[in-house]
Amino acid sequence: MLVEETLVLVKPDGVARNLTGEILRRIEAKGYSLVDIRLVQADRDLLTQHYAEHEGKPFFEPLLELMESGPTVAFRIAGNRVIEGFRMLAGTTDPTTAAPGTIRGDLGRDWGLKVQQNLVHGSDSPESAARELALWFTR
Ligand code: TYD
Ligand code: MG
Repeated sequence: MLVEETLVLVKPDGVARNLTGEILRRIEAKGYSLVDIRLVQADRDLLTQHYAEHEGKPFFEPLLELMESGPTVAFRIAGNRVIEGFRMLAGTTDPTTAAPGTIRGDLGRDWGLKVQQNLVHGSDSPESAARELALWFTR
């Protein structure tokens, strides 16, 4: 067993669409444990640090605008290989082509939505998880 913790965000589009419970249901159904939870109105400083790897890319500004548009729900989740496992639950980045059975594939809508409106974020490595959990859970 490799018990890890990861950061999952239900982005403002997911919170606004009342999908927080459905997303947590899928996480719990997989057997992962909820360790901590927060509702956060993210500011530019937090978001610039969170998405530092994407600064300067064409989608950076629209992404930050979405993330500032309303509250985000942050989950600290624990489980066996949960970092990779949650990303599989989430599906690929673009909901239009994300596989059925995944959060983005089942709940993402492909009409008139932008790629950044893909409902969730999950840390992509142990280093990212440690860095991002510290950002969202120690302020
Ligand atoms: P990324 O870290 O590549 O995706 P993931 O969330 O699957 O780890 O990108 C961060 C977010 O930026 C992504 O969730 C949605 C947005 N994004 C776009 O809007 N357009 C793009 O072309 C990419 C790659 C990402
Ligand atoms: Mg990413």
